[in-house]
Formats: sequence, structure tokens, C-alpha cells
Amino acid sequence: MGKIRNSSTSNAYSSHSVYSFNYIIPSSICLLLIISNANGFSPIIHFPTPGLFRNTSCPSKTVVFNINDFGAKGDGFTDDTKTLEDVWKVACSLSSRAKIVIPAGKSYLVRPIDFAGPCQSKVTLRISGTIVSPRDPEVWEGLNIHRWLYFHGVKDLIVEGGGLIDGSGHKWWAQSCKMNTSNHCTHAPTAVTFHKCKNLKVRNLTMVSSPQMHMAFTACVRVAASRLSVFAPADSPNTDGIHISASKHVNLKNIIISTGDDCISIVSNSSRIRMKNIVCGPGHGISIGSLGKANSSAAVQDVSLDGAYLFNTENGLRIKTWQGGSGFARNITFQNVWMKNVSNPIIIDQYYCDSSVPCVNQTSSVSIDTVSFHGIRGTSATEVAILFACSDIFPCRRLYLEDIQLTSASGGITRSFCWEAYGKSSGVIHPAPCISSGEIIIGLKVMSNSTSRHKDEYAFL
Ligand SMILES: *[C@@H]1O[C@H](CO)[C@@H](O)[C@H](O)[C@H]1NC(C)=O
Ligand SMILES: *[C@@H]1O[C@H](CO)[C@@H](O)[C@H](O)[C@H]1NC(C)=O
Ligand SMILES: *[C@@H]1O[C@H](CO)[C@@H](O)[C@H](O)[C@H]1NC(C)=O
Ligand SMILES: *[C@@H]1O[C@H](CO)[C@@H](O)[C@H](O)[C@H]1NC(C)=O
Ligand SMILES: *[C@@H]1O[C@H](CO)[C@@H](O)[C@H](O)[C@H]1NC(C)=O
Ligand SMILES: *[C@@H]1O[C@H](CO)[C@@H](O)[C@H](O)[C@H]1NC(C)=O
Ligand SMILES: *[C@@H]1O[C@H](CO)[C@@H](O)[C@H](O)[C@H]1NC(C)=O
Ligand SMILES: *[C@@H]1O[C@H](CO)[C@@H](O)[C@H](O)[C@H]1NC(C)=O
Ligand SMILES: *[C@@H]1O[C@H](CO)[C@@H](O)[C@H](O)[C@H]1NC(C)=O
Repeated sequence: MGKIRNSSTSNAYSSHSVYSFNYIIPSSICLLLIISNANGFSPIIHFPTPGLFRNTSCPSKTVVFNINDFGAKGDGFTDDTKTLEDVWKVACSLSSRAKIVIPAGKSYLVRPIDFAGPCQSKVTLRISGTIVSPRDPEVWEGLNIHRWLYFHGVKDLIVEGGGLIDGSGHKWWAQSCKMNTSNHCTHAPTAVTFHKCKNLKVRNLTMVSSPQMHMAFTACVRVAASRLSVFAPADSPNTDGIHISASKHVNLKNIIISTGDDCISIVSNSSRIRMKNIVCGPGHGISIGSLGKANSSAAVQDVSLDGAYLFNTENGLRIKTWQGGSGFARNITFQNVWMKNVSNPIIIDQYYCDSSVPCVNQTSSVSIDTVSFHGIRGTSATEVAILFACSDIFPCRRLYLEDIQLTSASGGITRSFCWEAYGKSSGVIHPAPCISSGEIIIGLKVMSNSTSRHKDEYAFL
């Protein structure tokens, strides 16, 4: 047998340590972990007798934690939060790879939980069963109302497993001010949040009925999310499918979303976002924004969507900004998109106002530059299939349309609407485009002193 030593990983917990770790390294390369009750406290993790870690862990030196072995019940009503929390802490502090298994066929009730990094190990969370949220909003009293499953500061995390994440959002929806205007407006939790995560992989999971957004990536770098499904009712309020905020290098691929708000929303300082093979409907479409709310600054660039099917959505491909913001949204490409019965299939709205009081026009705006729509086909549920409502002060620049065919879903006509929209088009465009070319802008725009500084930039074509 190999030697026995105290693991240095226990130091990380020395201030509030309830357990200590010893590794027994047998003659094989397999690792076996033993957590002893060294300090005389009751161990937070209760050990099952032999076979704690599966033999399958040996070849890759991954220590596997099946949460059932640590006392999780998975009966849908016993609170399994503590077990999952404790298993996470141990897995996160290992020096080898760690895999936490939430087994199939059971439903684990989990309250708001923090999966905090940094971790010593590379952790895989394999969700094959169901994680279900408490139904009652009162559970969040005294806690952060924005979060349910909250991963933060973790590098090299993988979340996968084919399982289900059920946000039990019905009570939250019923108390939303969007459902009943006499309700007080409050936030509701995002089901799964990844904050400040690096090299993250999320794949093969289904999310349903989140109180608010289903999955959010905030301030993350290098994210690969694939084979995800989201299902929530078309009238559930603010239930975005996937929300990306202040994140870079995010790849979304093979994703199906049916929900009550944006299928995908991209906001604040996000860049290098790639989306491929996205199915959306019902929902509010694929949105960049809203940007610039409450005079805020945003910088969104290098975003591309290639391959999507949208049906019965309230919007198709949308960029929305509030009056009064600053910064930009630029270098955005949407291509190869099929639409069926979509309201507002192509829309840029620089007068976005999702507020109970009307928004007044202001002298600043998030600028919109270099946006292309290429190969967009299908049917529109509204007459205006292409709508560019751009700012008077910062007109949309370098819009590009190519091969667009949007006919009416109800046998009527479709048309385009433009306001301060500049750029060019090529190939067949139906309805006929209304964007103005760069030459016209130079000819027609009289330089006003408040905006003249920017006008030179419009001479772009
Ligand atoms: C692990 O493998 C050994 C032999 O390879 C076997 O005897 C043992 O039952 C296995 N343990 C578990 C928990 O599968
Ligand atoms: C998704 O997860 C399920 C359940 O673990 C598994 O059977 C399936 O192979 C996974 N699919 C892919 C494509 O990885
Ligand atoms: C909205 O809320 C008020 C006050 O709670 C209630 O009286 C009313 O019935 C609700 N309306 C609907 C449509 O649920
Ligand atoms: C974006 O970045 C700028 C500059 O770093 C910062 O001032 C601004 O607050 C950020 N905006 C958001 C919405 O995070
Ligand atoms: C945004 O700026 C305008 C003009 O300076 C000001 O009137 C308005 O109150 C500001 N709005 C917010 C939410 O700060
Ligand atoms: C613009 O976006 C494309 C992908 O759509 C990317 O390849 C290119 O590097 C981007 N350019 C800039 C200047 O961000
Ligand atoms: C088309 O979309 C409209 C508005 O979203 C919806 O009311 C209608 O049921 C849809 N029609 C079909 C045939 O799905
Ligand atoms: C804001 O400006 C747009 C474009 O000039 C105009 O159509 C709209 O009526 C204005 N809105 C308000 C509230 O003044
Ligand atoms: C230039 O701006 C000032 C103050 O904003 C205004 O009084 C003046 O009329 C403007 N001049 C022109 C030519 O627009």
C-alpha cells in the first residue's frame, strides 16, 4: 500500500474546518479519499461503508462523488441543499479531478446555493436526475433574490448529464407585476447563474419553469454551451432562456428554447459571442440588449448567429437600446435564419422603453454600427417585417442586408420601415429595403453643432 499523508488541501478550510482529509494512495494509480472526523465534530459528510468512490474513477484519476452516498434523499421534498453544498466543498478542494454525480431517476430539492470557486480541482457536475427549486418565494427571505443555483469564480467547470433543472417558477410568475399590474415589481431568481467563470462547459441539460431567467453567464470568459433545452410558458414573465452579460468568447450551439421572454439576450460589455443552430419559439426572439438603460454604457461587439429557426416569436432578430445610453453595439451578423409566423422578424429599436412611465428622447444613445442580416427567410406575423428605428443623434450605420425573403404569415403584404438607417443591400430583398446609402446621408444631413463631431464618421461607404 502507498503512504498516508495529510492533504494540504485541508488548509484551505483551516479557519472553519470540520473535517480533515487524508489520501491513501494505493499501489495502483487509483485515488481513494477518506474524510475523517479528526476534530471530534460530527462530520458534515456521512460516509457510506466501502465503495465510496467508484472504480470508474481510477483510469482518469477522477474522484467521483455520488450525492446519494452522502445522504442526499432525492425524494423531491427532503432538503438536499446541505449535502450538495458539502460535497461541492470537498470536490472543489481536491487536488485531482472531481466529478459530482446527481443520479438519474430522482428529484433533489435544493434551496438557493452557492457553488463557490476558486477550486483546486477541475470539477464536473453531472446532473442526470432532477434538481428542483422550492416553490415558495418566501424561502428567499433574507437571501439574494437574484439567484438560485449560483456558480462563481470557478475555472474549468463542466456541467452536463442529461438531467433536468426545474425552477418551480409558478408562484413567482403569479406575483409578477407583469402578470398583474397591481403587484409590486420585484426581481425573481435566475435559475442557473455562472459568474466570473473561465473555461466553462455546459452541455446536455434541460431547464424548465425558471422564476426569471433560466441560465445567465455574467463576466465569464470562454464558455461553450451546447445541447441545452429550455421550456417555460409563453406568458411567463422575464423568463429569458440564456442571458449573456459582460462575457467574452461564448459559444452557444444546438439549443432549443420555448419561453416567455428572449430566447437569448446579450447585454452590457460582451464580445466574441457565437451562436449556431438555435431553435426559438415561442419567445421574444434573439436579442442584443436592451442596452443603455438608465443612462448606462454598453459595449457589445463581434456577435454572430449562424443557423436558427424561429417560430411564433414576438420578435426575430432584435437590437434594442434605451434613449440616454452610451457606448456601442457593432460588428453583428445574423445569417441563415428560418422564420415562421414571427412578429417583427428583423428589428433595430433605439427607442426601447420597457417602463410604466413613457421614456423621453434624450441627446445620447448607444450607437449601432456594422450589422448584417444575410439569408433570412420565412413568414412574418406583422406587416412591418423589417424595422429600423434608429436614433436621430446616432443613426444606425453600415447596416447590410442580403437575400431576405419575408412574406406575410396571413397572406397579406409585408413592408420595411426605416428611420435614420444607413447602409446597403444586395441580392433579393423582400420586402424592399428602405435603408439609405452613405452618399445620401452626406448629402442630406445638415450638420448640427451638437452632433457634428460624429457626422464625419457617417461618410463610410
Ligand atoms: C471495484 O473493483 C474491484 C475489482 O476490480 C471489485 O472487486 C469491486 O467490487 C469494485 N467496487 C465497486 C464499488 O464497484
Ligand atoms: C446526455 O446525457 C444522457 C444522460 O446522461 C446521456 O445518456 C447522453 O448520452 C448524453 N448525450 C450526449 C449527446 O452527450
Ligand atoms: C390582481 O391583483 C389584485 C390585488 O391583489 C386582485 O384583486 C386582482 O384580482 C388581480 N387580478 C388578476 C387578473 O389576477
Ligand atoms: C462597460 O465597460 C465600461 C468601461 O469599462 C464601463 O464604464 C461600463 O459601466 C460597463 N457597462 C456595463 C453595463 O457593465
Ligand atoms: C439620464 O440623463 C438625463 C439627461 O441628463 C436625465 O434627465 C435623466 O434623469 C437621467 N436618467 C437616469 C435614470 O439617470
Ligand atoms: C467582426 O465579427 C466577425 C465574426 O462575425 C469576426 O470574425 C471579426 O473578427 C470581427 N471584427 C472585429 C473588428 O471585431
Ligand atoms: C402567429 O403568431 C401570432 C402572434 O404571435 C399568434 O397569435 C398566432 O396564433 C400564430 N399563428 C399560428 C398559426 O401559429
Ligand atoms: C423620439 O424621437 C422619435 C424620432 O425622432 C420620434 O418619432 C418620437 O416621437 C420621439 N419620442 C418622444 C417621446 O418625443
Ligand atoms: C448650436 O448649439 C447651441 C447650444 O446648444 C444652440 O443655441 C445653437 O442654436 C446651435 N446652432 C446651430 C446652428 O444649430
